[in-house]
Amino acid sequence: MEPLDNKTALITGARGGLGTFVTRTFLAAGASVAGVSRSIQQADFPDPRFAAVPGELSSREAAQALADRVARRFGRIDVLVHLVGGFAGGAPVGETDDATLERMLDLNLRSAFHILRAVIPLMRAAGSGRIVAIGSRAAVEPQPFIAAYSASKAALVSLMRSVAMENKDRGVTANVILPGTMDTPANRAADPNADFAKWIDPQQVANLSLWLSSEAASQVTGAVIPVYGKDL
Ligand SMILES: NC(=O)c1ccc[n+]([C@@H]2O[C@H](COP(=O)([O-])OP(=O)(O)OC[C@H]3O[C@@H](n4cnc5c(N)ncnc54)[C@H](OP(=O)(O)O)[C@@H]3O)[C@@H](O)[C@H]2O)c1
Repeated sequence: MEPLDNKTALITGARGGLGTFVTRTFLAAGASVAGVSRSIQQADFPDPRFAAVPGELSSREAAQALADRVARRFGRIDVLVHLVGGFAGGAPVGETDDATLERMLDLNLRSAFHILRAVIPLMRAAGSGRIVAIGSRAAVEPQPFIAAYSASKAALVSLMRSVAMENKDRGVTANVILPGTMDTPANRAADPNADFAKWIDPQQVANLSLWLSSEAASQVTGAVIPVYGKDL
């Protein structure tokens, strides 16, 4: 018996640097996985319990359409792991342009708002559900020159805390993981001289996401969990 046998997980950002680990981990744990991203393909995860659901989360309507497709195909959504997000930095607040601010809010806050509004009613109706979102260390420890990113991730944490409180009466948990810099191919390419040993292993974040999505974590909600490794 695996922890997510007979469960359906909707994973957004499923083919990203972290999403690849999370998707593989959830499939190995017995879940059926609907993997969402704009470019995702069935061949990305050759597993009979994987369904590629190409699409985007930039509007309420688009997110609703995705959730409807997943619910029609699997009949239920037990778990939402929301990994879509993005980074921008390099300028002080006074020189950050509107496009950067909007992009950070779209990727890190609005995408979550849109998919949460589509999924929460299904979970409430079912009387159970697990929601995990990925914030960032910067949400609680802002640094110079990444204000739009930090603020958008802080807003995500606030949103998830609200979701946890609003849905604790219906067996729906909502938790946020705050990773430090993860050891992903994109980060290695962007910073080839960094000490990769200090970075967070995405598998550890995937393992924590799995545990938060399991029956074992039914009383864990509203948590904001740092994963900082040796860089604590
Ligand atoms: N990497 C790090 O060191 C780090 C540290 C702290 C927190 N985080 C957070 O962890 C999460 C995952 O990071 P990552 O490094 O795995 O990111 P990533 O490699 O850039 O993956 C992002 C994923 O989201 C999808 N995506 C982007 N915009 C989308 C949209 N509008 N609609 C649907 N899908 C969209 C992308 O696929 P498509 O291009 O196919 O759409 C991709 O699968 C993010 O929230 C990030 O902010 C990352």
